[in-house]
Amino acid sequence: MGKKVVVITGSPRRNGNSFAMTDAFVKAAEAKGHTVIRFDAALKKVGGCRACETCFSSEKACAFHDEFNMIAPAILEADAIVFTMPVYWYSIPAQIKGIIDCIFSLVVGGKDIAGKECALITCCEEDDISVMDGVRIPIERMAAFNKWKMIGEVLIPGVLNVGDIDKTDGCKKAVDLADVI
Ligand SMILES: Cc1cc2nc3c(=O)[nH]c(=O)nc-3n(C[C@H](O)[C@H](O)[C@H](O)COP(=O)(O)O)c2cc1C
Repeated sequence: MGKKVVVITGSPRRNGNSFAMTDAFVKAAEAKGHTVIRFDAALKKVGGCRACETCFSSEKACAFHDEFNMIAPAILEADAIVFTMPVYWYSIPAQIKGIIDCIFSLVVGGKDIAGKECALITCCEEDDISVMDGVRIPIERMAAFNKWKMIGEVLIPGVLNVGDIDKTDGCKKAVDLADVI
């Protein structure tokens, strides 16, 4: 049966490496009958969490970030959430981190978000796969906290410039990820 999939990207490079893998994943997931809603965090303005703890005190998830409020209902409805991003300084890029932090509003708001599937697509310049730990581990821990099941990770080292991903099996692995949703 087709699932509702939310894909949240974190690169500002529209033609970059993580977007190429994202595009491959989305195409494959849609071909399998899943419904994909995509949110390109770095192409929007989303600040960080202000820790005001007024989440959902109105009908809005977040009192400050209307861009997050646009995607919050889809996250609540989703069967699967896929995060895609490059590594920035051994960590999660600021733009998508703002969105990830805003997901805390669903917890503070007491929403039932358990039981979703979660996956990660990421890449970095260096050849050492552990460079991606700073992205992988927080996503895995957040998924565990939210009682989401990690169903797949595409971790591609050794890609710096636009197009480098084509010299790897990253896009194929992203297509394969759609098989396990
Ligand atoms: C601000 C910034 C910080 C980066 N930090 C790292 C890093 O710590 N380690 C690494 O291997 N690559 C790092 N990179 C390289 C990117 O992860 C790499 O170029 C990646 O392929 C970019 O993905 P994209 O094309 O989807 O944006 C950094 C790039 C930028 C712009």
